[in-house]
Amino acid sequence: MKAKIITERVTWMGAVDWNRRLFDSLIPLPEGTSYNAYLLRGSEKTALIDTVDPEKVDLLLAQLADVEQVDYIVSQHSEQDHAGAIPVIMEKYPQAQVLCSEKGRDMLLYHLEMDPERIRVVADDEVLSLGDRSLRFIYTPWVHWPETMCSFCEEEGILFSCDFFGSHLATSTLYADENPQVIIAAKRYYAEIMMPFRSFIKKHLVKLEPVPFTMIAPSHGPIYNKPEFILDAYKDWVSDHVANKVVIPYISMHGSTEAMVTHLVSSLDARSIEVHPFDLTVTDIGELAMALVDAATIVIGTPTVLFGPHPFVFSATHLANALRPKLRFAAIIGSYGWGTKAAEQLTELIPNLKVEVLGTLMCKGLPREEDIANLDALAQNIYEHHQNLD
Ligand code: FEO
Repeated sequence: MKAKIITERVTWMGAVDWNRRLFDSLIPLPEGTSYNAYLLRGSEKTALIDTVDPEKVDLLLAQLADVEQVDYIVSQHSEQDHAGAIPVIMEKYPQAQVLCSEKGRDMLLYHLEMDPERIRVVADDEVLSLGDRSLRFIYTPWVHWPETMCSFCEEEGILFSCDFFGSHLATSTLYADENPQVIIAAKRYYAEIMMPFRSFIKKHLVKLEPVPFTMIAPSHGPIYNKPEFILDAYKDWVSDHVANKVVIPYISMHGSTEAMVTHLVSSLDARSIEVHPFDLTVTDIGELAMALVDAATIVIGTPTVLFGPHPFVFSATHLANALRPKLRFAAIIGSYGWGTKAAEQLTELIPNLKVEVLGTLMCKGLPREEDIANLDALAQNIYEHHQNLD
């Protein structure tokens, strides 16, 4: 794809990765992604903000073919999908300086083995003059690594935000407008990548409030030409509000846990509680992460394998703990053949979740009448605890 003009001085460059389906060997990308770089031309100096994944560097080089001089390469984030092509761009522009945050320098040296003489650390709130255009660097750590920063061009009213506000969405459309597909992709991105850093993001949103941008240009997905569209979504996602919603990741081996989940779903639904069961043999973990963004309760369902939880459930529970959703309540249900420690082991896996455990219910074999009654009691307990959500 060719470079695209955003304004007379700002050009989108980069690559749309239509076919990538996995990120970090973990995160599903059902709709591909993009690696956005931006060329900002001042009257005296030119800056390239971020680059692309190394696999796509040829596309970026082709877009830069007619650009004679780049004075600065701004590395807002050291992860390879944005910084991995910087060494090649440094070769093309031997006079260019790499600008990054204080922590970014160390990361660029260790991850990409750059020449330290060509890296210059910029301070939080430092302004770089490009002549009649400028860039102000705004430290925003943990979106998504500790070194991340945004860059603001006051004269253009554009905030370059790298991963922050990004979406894994391959599209030829440059602007998000108010396309709901973008918000769904951005929510998935938030859930998978940003959610563990919710408390930092809350502070960043406050820090960005006085910054007069009219456009947000992330390094994944479309540009937000109507910033309130994504800002309002982020304010909701990072708020303390939880919904009257239960998420049930589970596995069933011989039908017992499935029967319990099916009954619990029905019992919760009968109490007007939104419920999302996820059979982990077929679940896209991004969908599970999205459901956890505002759920009040998680119910984990597992059969017993060698006295512990099923390994898929173990993995999903570990992931939920790492993502730190703002859950309030939890419960564990499941089954066993002759003995089990599954519930105890799962409880130990969720220290990051500040939840009240509303109960555990493990059936020997298929659920009996008493178990069904206990599932209804659990549904009622959840219902009562959901009455005072704020
Ligand atoms: Fe898009 Fe954290 O890299």
